[in-house]
Amino acid sequence: MTRNRTFPALFLAFLTLGTVRVQSQNAANYDEAKVPRFTLPEVLTCQDGTMVTTRRQWEKKRRPEVLRLISEQEYGVTPDEKVKTTYEVLATDPQALGGKATSQQVMFTFSGQGREVKALLAAYVPNNRKGRVPVFIEYNFQGNHNVLEGQDLMRSPAFTRPLHPHDPLPRWAEGGHVAPWPLEQIIDRGYALVTMCFEDIYPDYPEGEPLGVTALFPETGDAGSRWQAIGAWAWGSSRIADWVVRQPWANRKQLAIAGLSRLGKAALWAGAQDERFQVVISNESGCGGAALSKRAYGETVAFITKTFPHWFCRNFSQYANNEQAMPFDQHMLTALVAPRHLYVASAEEDNWADQKGEYLSAYYASPVYALYGLKGLSSPEMPAVNQPVMTERVAYHIRSGSHNQLPYDWSCYLDFCDKAFGRQ
Ligand code: GCU
Repeated sequence: MTRNRTFPALFLAFLTLGTVRVQSQNAANYDEAKVPRFTLPEVLTCQDGTMVTTRRQWEKKRRPEVLRLISEQEYGVTPDEKVKTTYEVLATDPQALGGKATSQQVMFTFSGQGREVKALLAAYVPNNRKGRVPVFIEYNFQGNHNVLEGQDLMRSPAFTRPLHPHDPLPRWAEGGHVAPWPLEQIIDRGYALVTMCFEDIYPDYPEGEPLGVTALFPETGDAGSRWQAIGAWAWGSSRIADWVVRQPWANRKQLAIAGLSRLGKAALWAGAQDERFQVVISNESGCGGAALSKRAYGETVAFITKTFPHWFCRNFSQYANNEQAMPFDQHMLTALVAPRHLYVASAEEDNWADQKGEYLSAYYASPVYALYGLKGLSSPEMPAVNQPVMTERVAYHIRSGSHNQLPYDWSCYLDFCDKAFGRQ
């Protein structure tokens, strides 16, 4: 098979790229004393200098302003146009997980501009349910069949593509670096789980654009603010939500979205734009996700925009080695989730993602929660390792160990969702 024949070359390329990445990680700043002095833009001060003091001002004036700024300067503008979407149920198993769940595999076909993109969704719904259930939505890195161990699932369409010659890193080719998900625990706690491979929506390499969903839209607007992969992944999450809210088993007011790493960046951006996501969870999303860019600690804008030129819009690169010129920072992204529920999580060994920067962006969203009479994080000091803080709307934890999404993280998220959805 092609995959086997190309594997040695790819593996070598992977090692080389891995070495470059490790070197860059080693060269990054991990010294708090070297974090530059910075001033964060005030989330409640409008561009014309007006101070926001009411919810109405936030919702009508400042929130749209922040959303526009982050669209145009960071992730790119999500088009308003709709593309044609059809759904085909390919398989249903009413006795999945030893009878605990009903599973469905549904092929989404998006079409536009004479092209089609196919994406395979897998859903698990608890059989032991009274009425509609809350739904946990998360992309997987390595295909539905890889992340849900022991389940007999079809391969996501991304797997039918040849591996890209310059990029050994369709994430699924790396082999299980992401922990499998605790499906049974999720079902036992009464949640449905819905997942899709992110590469079905937009292949994760610079030349992947023609195969992703952005190619289904007419190219309009300014090239600097054109959306790319993260924008596309966020858009795809909303399309998953479109399907979920039509299901007879789904509680449409109880949708949680989560993501790990680059998919945590996409989950935050999806949660910022689409208010149907009632709980928004960033699992170690780091630079361009929850972490404050102006701290330039760990991964920087310069590194991320150079290494992953296909993630953000081009305008974001102007802040490479120039973070202090940014008229926004990631606390303004987290603030867009308010007054809904926000969970930011870090890992103790993951200083590439800048744990403190992740914490602080959740903390600095507090003024917006306060407008709604709600408590965000109240202290600028991070909690101790494995000691989650959960206020009524904002939660944070730093887990021991390295970059991943482990059963510990999952159980914290489910606890927070239980609180958010009044299930305790
Ligand atoms: C790299 C990248 C991060 C990203 C991570 C991931 O480490 O530098 O920004 O979050 O990959 O998605 O796994």
